[in-house]
Amino acid sequence: MLILGIETSCDETAASLVKVENGKIKVLSSVVSSQVKLHAKYGGVVPSLAAREHVKNLGSVLELTTKGVVLKKVDLIAVTAGPGLVSSLLVGTAFAKTLAWKLNKPIIGVNHVEGHISSNFLPPIGEAHTLYPIPYTLFPALCLVVSGGHTQLILMKGLGKYKTVGETLDDAAGEAFDKIARILGLGYPGGPAISAAAEKLLTTHYKLQTNLPRPMINSKNFDFSFSGLKTAVLYLDRDLKKKLGKNKLPKELISQIAAEAQMAIVDVLVSKTVKAAQKYEAKSIMLSGGVSANKLLRSELKKNAEQREIKYLQPLPEYTTDNAAMIAMAGYLNHSKNRKTDWRSVQVDANLTI
Ligand code: KG4
Ligand code: ZN
Repeated sequence: MLILGIETSCDETAASLVKVENGKIKVLSSVVSSQVKLHAKYGGVVPSLAAREHVKNLGSVLELTTKGVVLKKVDLIAVTAGPGLVSSLLVGTAFAKTLAWKLNKPIIGVNHVEGHISSNFLPPIGEAHTLYPIPYTLFPALCLVVSGGHTQLILMKGLGKYKTVGETLDDAAGEAFDKIARILGLGYPGGPAISAAAEKLLTTHYKLQTNLPRPMINSKNFDFSFSGLKTAVLYLDRDLKKKLGKNKLPKELISQIAAEAQMAIVDVLVSKTVKAAQKYEAKSIMLSGGVSANKLLRSELKKNAEQREIKYLQPLPEYTTDNAAMIAMAGYLNHSKNRKTDWRSVQVDANLTI
Protein backbone atom coordinates (compact mmCIF):
# COMPACT_ATOMS: atom_id res chain seq x y z
CA MET A 1 0.00 0.00 0.00
CA LEU A 2 1.31 3.43 -0.96
CA ILE A 3 0.33 6.34 1.32
CA LEU A 4 0.73 10.02 0.50
CA GLY A 5 0.99 12.17 3.64
CA ILE A 6 0.34 15.94 3.64
CA GLU A 7 1.05 18.19 6.62
CA THR A 8 0.38 21.94 6.92
CA SER A 9 -0.81 22.41 10.51
CA CYS A 10 1.61 25.18 11.39
CA ASP A 11 4.56 26.65 9.48
CA GLU A 12 6.05 23.62 7.70
CA THR A 13 4.71 22.56 4.31
CA ALA A 14 5.39 18.83 4.10
CA ALA A 15 4.58 15.81 1.95
CA SER A 16 5.77 12.22 2.10
CA LEU A 17 5.32 8.87 0.42
CA VAL A 18 5.30 5.83 2.71
CA LYS A 19 5.03 2.27 1.49
CA VAL A 20 3.73 -0.61 3.63
CA GLU A 21 4.17 -4.03 2.06
CA ASN A 22 4.38 -7.51 3.57
CA GLY A 23 4.61 -6.03 7.07
CA LYS A 24 7.53 -3.78 6.09
CA ILE A 25 7.47 -0.01 6.26
CA LYS A 26 9.55 2.15 3.94
CA VAL A 27 9.59 5.94 3.75
CA LEU A 28 10.19 6.57 0.05
CA SER A 29 10.41 10.34 0.42
CA SER A 30 9.80 13.03 3.01
CA VAL A 31 9.99 16.67 1.92
CA VAL A 32 9.65 19.55 4.39
CA SER A 33 9.65 23.15 3.28
CA SER A 34 10.35 25.26 6.34
CA GLN A 35 9.10 28.82 6.82
CA VAL A 36 11.37 29.46 9.79
CA LYS A 37 13.25 32.33 8.15
CA LEU A 38 10.03 34.11 7.22
CA HIS A 39 8.59 34.00 10.75
CA ALA A 40 11.91 34.55 12.58
CA LYS A 41 11.72 38.32 12.28
CA TYR A 42 8.36 38.30 14.09
CA GLY A 43 9.65 35.99 16.86
CA GLY A 44 6.89 33.45 16.18
CA VAL A 45 4.52 32.09 13.54
CA VAL A 46 2.21 34.65 11.84
CA PRO A 47 -0.88 32.59 10.83
CA SER A 48 -1.85 34.56 7.70
CA LEU A 49 1.71 34.47 6.34
CA ALA A 50 1.96 30.74 7.07
CA ALA A 51 -1.23 30.04 5.09
CA ARG A 52 0.00 32.09 2.11
CA GLU A 53 3.29 30.17 2.09
CA HIS A 54 1.46 26.83 2.14
CA VAL A 55 -0.57 27.94 -0.90
CA LYS A 56 2.66 28.94 -2.64
CA ASN A 57 4.68 25.84 -1.73
CA LEU A 58 2.36 22.83 -1.69
CA GLY A 59 2.53 22.16 -5.43
CA SER A 60 6.31 22.07 -5.61
CA VAL A 61 6.62 20.10 -2.34
CA LEU A 62 4.27 17.48 -3.82
CA GLU A 63 6.24 17.43 -7.07
CA LEU A 64 9.50 16.82 -5.21
CA THR A 65 7.90 14.15 -3.02
CA THR A 66 6.37 12.16 -5.85
CA LYS A 67 9.27 12.49 -8.34
CA GLY A 68 9.21 9.42 -10.56
CA VAL A 69 6.00 8.05 -9.01
CA VAL A 70 2.71 8.21 -10.88
CA LEU A 71 0.18 9.79 -8.50
CA LYS A 72 -2.43 7.27 -9.66
CA LYS A 73 -0.42 4.59 -7.81
CA VAL A 74 -1.15 6.18 -4.42
CA ASP A 75 -3.62 4.02 -2.46
CA LEU A 76 -4.42 6.42 0.38
CA ILE A 77 -4.04 10.13 1.08
CA ALA A 78 -3.49 11.13 4.73
CA VAL A 79 -3.80 14.79 5.65
CA THR A 80 -3.54 16.64 8.96
CA ALA A 81 -7.05 17.76 9.99
CA GLY A 82 -6.09 19.32 13.38
CA PRO A 83 -5.10 20.52 15.87
CA GLY A 84 -3.23 23.53 14.50
CA LEU A 85 -3.68 26.94 12.91
CA VAL A 86 -7.05 26.93 11.17
CA SER A 87 -5.86 28.86 8.09
CA SER A 88 -2.87 26.54 7.63
CA LEU A 89 -5.01 23.42 8.09
CA LEU A 90 -7.57 24.67 5.55
CA VAL A 91 -4.91 25.06 2.84
CA GLY A 92 -3.55 21.52 3.31
CA THR A 93 -6.92 19.81 3.56
CA ALA A 94 -8.39 21.70 0.57
CA PHE A 95 -5.34 20.66 -1.47
CA ALA A 96 -5.50 17.02 -0.32
CA LYS A 97 -9.26 16.75 -0.79
CA THR A 98 -8.99 18.11 -4.32
CA LEU A 99 -6.32 15.50 -5.08
CA ALA A 100 -8.47 12.73 -3.61
CA TRP A 101 -11.49 13.86 -5.62
CA LYS A 102 -9.57 14.25 -8.88
CA LEU A 103 -7.67 10.96 -8.51
CA ASN A 104 -10.68 9.19 -7.02
CA LYS A 105 -8.62 7.94 -4.04
CA PRO A 106 -9.54 7.37 -0.39
CA ILE A 107 -8.46 10.12 2.01
CA ILE A 108 -8.21 10.19 5.79
CA GLY A 109 -7.97 13.14 8.19
CA VAL A 110 -5.19 12.67 10.74
CA ASN A 111 -4.75 14.09 14.23
CA HIS A 112 -1.40 15.92 14.28
CA VAL A 113 -0.61 14.72 17.82
CA GLU A 114 -1.27 11.11 16.81
CA GLY A 115 1.06 11.80 13.89
CA HIS A 116 3.83 12.83 16.28
CA ILE A 117 3.31 9.65 18.34
CA SER A 118 3.41 7.56 15.13
CA SER A 119 6.80 9.08 14.22
CA ASN A 120 8.25 6.55 16.67
CA PHE A 121 7.48 3.76 14.18
CA LEU A 122 9.25 5.30 11.17
CA PRO A 123 12.50 3.84 9.80
CA PRO A 124 15.21 5.98 8.13
CA ILE A 125 14.27 7.25 4.64
CA GLY A 126 14.84 4.56 2.02
CA GLU A 127 15.17 1.62 4.47
CA ALA A 128 12.50 -1.07 4.76
CA HIS A 129 11.92 -2.15 8.38
CA THR A 130 9.65 -4.83 9.77
CA LEU A 131 7.90 -2.58 12.24
CA TYR A 132 4.39 -3.63 11.37
CA PRO A 133 2.38 -5.00 13.09
CA ILE A 134 3.54 -2.73 15.93
CA PRO A 135 4.46 -5.12 18.81
CA TYR A 136 1.69 -5.33 21.42
CA THR A 137 4.44 -5.72 24.04
CA LEU A 138 4.90 -1.93 23.89
CA PHE A 139 1.43 -1.29 25.33
CA PRO A 140 0.26 0.34 27.48
CA ALA A 141 2.69 3.03 26.41
CA LEU A 142 3.15 6.40 28.06
CA CYS A 143 3.65 9.03 25.35
CA LEU A 144 5.23 12.40 26.05
CA VAL A 145 4.31 14.75 23.20
CA VAL A 146 6.26 17.99 23.41
CA SER A 147 6.13 20.60 20.68
CA GLY A 148 5.55 24.30 20.08
CA GLY A 149 1.81 23.85 20.55
CA HIS A 150 1.52 20.82 22.83
CA THR A 151 2.81 19.33 26.04
CA GLN A 152 0.82 16.23 26.79
CA LEU A 153 1.20 12.94 28.58
CA ILE A 154 -0.92 10.42 26.74
CA LEU A 155 -1.57 6.87 27.81
CA MET A 156 -1.71 4.71 24.69
CA LYS A 157 -3.46 1.46 25.55
CA GLY A 158 -3.10 0.13 22.02
CA LEU A 159 -3.20 1.39 18.44
CA GLY A 160 -5.73 4.22 18.26
CA LYS A 161 -6.60 3.97 21.98
CA TYR A 162 -5.53 7.13 23.75
CA LYS A 163 -6.21 8.82 27.07
CA THR A 164 -4.69 12.17 28.01
CA VAL A 165 -3.41 11.91 31.59
CA GLY A 166 -1.68 15.28 31.82
CA GLU A 167 -1.12 18.47 29.86
CA THR A 168 0.19 21.97 30.18
CA LEU A 169 -1.99 24.52 31.93
CA ASP A 170 -0.34 27.41 30.08
CA ASP A 171 2.69 27.43 27.74
CA ALA A 172 3.80 24.32 25.85
CA ALA A 173 7.40 23.17 26.42
CA GLY A 174 8.45 24.31 22.92
CA GLU A 175 6.74 27.64 23.51
CA ALA A 176 8.74 27.98 26.74
CA PHE A 177 11.97 27.34 24.80
CA ASP A 178 10.88 29.90 22.16
CA LYS A 179 9.88 32.59 24.69
CA ILE A 180 12.99 32.13 26.84
CA ALA A 181 15.19 32.30 23.73
CA ARG A 182 13.46 35.54 22.77
CA ILE A 183 14.14 37.04 26.23
CA LEU A 184 17.81 36.04 25.92
CA GLY A 185 18.05 37.39 22.36
CA LEU A 186 18.86 33.95 20.93
CA GLY A 187 16.43 34.05 18.01
CA TYR A 188 13.66 31.80 16.68
CA PRO A 189 12.98 28.88 16.88
CA GLY A 190 14.18 28.95 20.45
CA GLY A 191 14.66 25.24 21.13
CA PRO A 192 17.62 24.64 18.82
CA ALA A 193 19.10 28.04 19.76
CA ILE A 194 18.92 27.32 23.50
CA SER A 195 20.37 23.84 23.19
CA ALA A 196 23.20 25.11 20.95
CA ALA A 197 24.07 27.80 23.51
CA ALA A 198 23.78 25.32 26.38
CA GLU A 199 25.88 22.64 24.65
CA LYS A 200 28.80 25.02 24.32
CA LEU A 201 28.72 25.63 28.03
CA LEU A 202 28.07 22.07 29.17
CA THR A 203 31.27 20.93 27.50
CA THR A 204 33.40 23.55 29.30
CA HIS A 205 32.61 24.84 32.78
CA TYR A 206 28.93 24.64 33.50
CA LYS A 207 27.98 25.73 37.00
CA LEU A 208 24.52 25.99 38.51
CA GLN A 209 24.10 29.52 39.75
CA THR A 210 20.69 30.85 38.98
CA ASN A 211 18.46 28.25 40.65
CA LEU A 212 15.54 28.48 38.23
CA PRO A 213 12.21 26.93 39.34
CA ARG A 214 10.91 23.52 38.22
CA PRO A 215 7.18 24.39 38.14
CA MET A 216 4.77 21.67 39.34
CA ILE A 217 7.52 19.05 39.54
CA ASN A 218 6.09 17.71 42.81
CA SER A 219 2.39 18.22 42.08
CA LYS A 220 0.18 15.15 42.52
CA ASN A 221 -1.22 15.26 38.99
CA PHE A 222 0.58 14.98 35.62
CA ASP A 223 -0.10 18.51 34.41
CA PHE A 224 2.61 21.00 33.53
CA SER A 225 3.11 24.75 33.74
CA PHE A 226 5.96 26.60 32.08
CA SER A 227 4.91 30.25 32.18
CA GLY A 228 6.43 30.75 35.67
CA LEU A 229 9.80 29.55 34.42
CA LYS A 230 9.64 32.02 31.54
CA THR A 231 8.83 34.84 33.99
CA ALA A 232 11.71 33.78 36.25
CA VAL A 233 14.10 34.06 33.28
CA LEU A 234 12.61 37.45 32.38
CA TYR A 235 13.30 38.80 35.90
CA LEU A 236 16.74 37.19 36.06
CA ASP A 237 17.71 38.76 32.74
CA ARG A 238 16.40 42.16 33.87
CA ASP A 239 18.14 41.99 37.29
CA LEU A 240 21.48 40.83 35.86
CA LYS A 241 21.45 43.62 33.25
CA LYS A 242 20.73 46.16 36.01
CA LYS A 243 23.48 44.74 38.23
CA LEU A 244 26.05 44.78 35.42
CA GLY A 245 24.86 48.17 34.13
CA LYS A 246 24.51 46.75 30.59
CA ASN A 247 21.61 46.45 28.17
CA LYS A 248 23.01 43.20 26.79
CA LEU A 249 24.33 40.29 28.87
CA PRO A 250 27.74 38.76 28.08
CA LYS A 251 27.56 35.66 25.84
CA GLU A 252 28.87 33.38 28.60
CA LEU A 253 26.11 34.41 30.97
CA ILE A 254 23.42 34.01 28.29
CA SER A 255 24.68 30.46 27.63
CA GLN A 256 24.59 29.72 31.33
CA ILE A 257 20.97 30.87 31.69
CA ALA A 258 20.07 28.92 28.52
CA ALA A 259 21.65 25.76 29.96
CA GLU A 260 19.82 26.26 33.27
CA ALA A 261 16.47 26.87 31.59
CA GLN A 262 16.93 23.79 29.40
CA MET A 263 17.77 21.69 32.44
CA ALA A 264 14.72 23.00 34.34
CA ILE A 265 12.38 22.08 31.44
CA VAL A 266 13.99 18.65 30.98
CA ASP A 267 13.88 17.92 34.75
CA VAL A 268 10.14 18.56 34.88
CA LEU A 269 9.37 16.62 31.68
CA VAL A 270 11.42 13.57 32.68
CA SER A 271 10.26 13.46 36.30
CA LYS A 272 6.55 13.65 35.41
CA THR A 273 6.81 11.21 32.50
CA VAL A 274 8.54 8.59 34.63
CA LYS A 275 6.06 9.01 37.51
CA ALA A 276 3.11 8.66 35.11
CA ALA A 277 4.69 5.59 33.46
CA GLN A 278 5.02 3.97 36.88
CA LYS A 279 1.49 4.88 37.97
CA TYR A 280 -0.07 3.46 34.78
CA GLU A 281 2.33 0.48 34.68
CA ALA A 282 3.44 1.41 31.18
CA LYS A 283 5.54 -1.13 29.29
CA SER A 284 7.15 1.63 27.24
CA ILE A 285 7.77 5.36 27.13
CA MET A 286 7.51 7.07 23.74
CA LEU A 287 8.83 10.56 23.18
CA SER A 288 7.72 12.79 20.27
CA GLY A 289 7.11 16.33 19.01
CA GLY A 290 9.49 19.10 17.98
CA VAL A 291 11.10 19.32 21.44
CA SER A 292 12.05 15.62 21.16
CA ALA A 293 14.94 16.89 19.00
CA ASN A 294 16.51 18.10 22.25
CA LYS A 295 19.56 15.96 22.99
CA LEU A 296 19.46 16.45 26.76
CA LEU A 297 15.78 15.43 26.90
CA ARG A 298 16.48 12.37 24.72
CA SER A 299 19.39 11.15 26.82
CA GLU A 300 17.79 11.87 30.22
CA LEU A 301 14.46 10.24 29.36
CA LYS A 302 16.21 7.20 27.87
CA LYS A 303 18.43 6.81 30.94
CA ASN A 304 15.53 7.17 33.37
CA ALA A 305 13.25 4.77 31.46
CA GLU A 306 15.95 2.12 31.14
CA GLN A 307 16.92 2.39 34.82
CA ARG A 308 13.33 1.34 35.58
CA GLU A 309 13.36 -1.39 32.91
CA ILE A 310 10.73 0.42 30.84
CA LYS A 311 11.23 0.14 27.06
CA TYR A 312 12.09 3.46 25.47
CA LEU A 313 11.28 4.74 21.97
CA GLN A 314 12.16 8.05 20.38
CA PRO A 315 11.73 9.24 16.80
CA LEU A 316 14.75 9.50 14.52
CA PRO A 317 16.00 13.12 14.46
CA GLU A 318 14.57 13.68 10.94
CA TYR A 319 11.06 12.95 12.22
CA THR A 320 11.08 15.03 15.42
CA THR A 321 9.76 18.32 14.04
CA ASP A 322 6.68 18.55 11.80
CA ASN A 323 6.81 16.24 8.77
CA ALA A 324 4.38 14.32 6.61
CA ALA A 325 5.88 10.83 6.97
CA MET A 326 4.40 10.70 10.49
CA ILE A 327 1.00 11.77 9.07
CA ALA A 328 1.17 9.03 6.42
CA MET A 329 2.04 6.50 9.14
CA ALA A 330 -0.85 7.57 11.41
CA GLY A 331 -3.16 7.59 8.38
CA TYR A 332 -2.15 4.04 7.56
CA LEU A 333 -2.72 2.82 11.13
CA ASN A 334 -6.18 4.43 11.22
CA HIS A 335 -7.11 3.26 7.75
CA SER A 336 -6.72 -0.36 8.78
CA LYS A 337 -9.46 0.34 11.40
CA ASN A 338 -12.07 1.05 8.71
CA ARG A 339 -12.28 4.79 9.26
CA LYS A 340 -14.29 6.85 6.72
CA THR A 341 -12.19 7.67 3.68
CA ASP A 342 -14.47 9.72 1.46
CA TRP A 343 -13.14 13.21 0.62
CA ARG A 344 -16.38 14.72 1.96
CA SER A 345 -15.67 13.27 5.42
CA VAL A 346 -12.43 15.21 6.04
CA GLN A 347 -13.17 18.23 8.24
CA VAL A 348 -10.72 20.69 9.81
CA ASP A 349 -10.80 21.09 13.59
CA ALA A 350 -8.22 23.54 14.95
CA ASN A 351 -8.79 22.19 18.48
CA LEU A 352 -9.03 18.51 17.66
CA THR A 353 -8.30 16.35 20.72
CA ILE A 354 -6.80 12.89 20.71
O1 KG4 B 1 6.44 19.71 16.42
P1 KG4 B 1 6.91 21.03 15.96
O2 KG4 B 1 7.78 21.09 14.74
O3 KG4 B 1 5.71 22.01 15.68
C1 KG4 B 1 4.56 22.03 16.47
O4 KG4 B 1 3.69 21.14 16.27
O5 KG4 B 1 4.53 22.92 17.37
O6 KG4 B 1 7.67 21.71 17.19
C2 KG4 B 1 8.30 22.95 17.13
C3 KG4 B 1 8.88 23.28 18.50
C4 KG4 B 1 9.41 24.72 18.60
O7 KG4 B 1 8.88 25.31 19.77
C5 KG4 B 1 10.93 24.52 18.74
O8 KG4 B 1 11.55 25.53 19.52
C6 KG4 B 1 11.01 23.16 19.40
O9 KG4 B 1 9.99 22.40 18.78
N1 KG4 B 1 12.32 22.52 19.15
C7 KG4 B 1 13.20 22.25 20.16
C8 KG4 B 1 14.36 21.73 19.53
N2 KG4 B 1 14.13 21.68 18.18
C9 KG4 B 1 12.86 22.16 17.97
N3 KG4 B 1 13.10 22.43 21.49
C10 KG4 B 1 14.17 22.07 22.23
N4 KG4 B 1 15.33 21.58 21.71
C11 KG4 B 1 15.46 21.39 20.38
N5 KG4 B 1 16.59 20.90 19.90
ZN1 ZN C 1 3.97 19.32 15.58
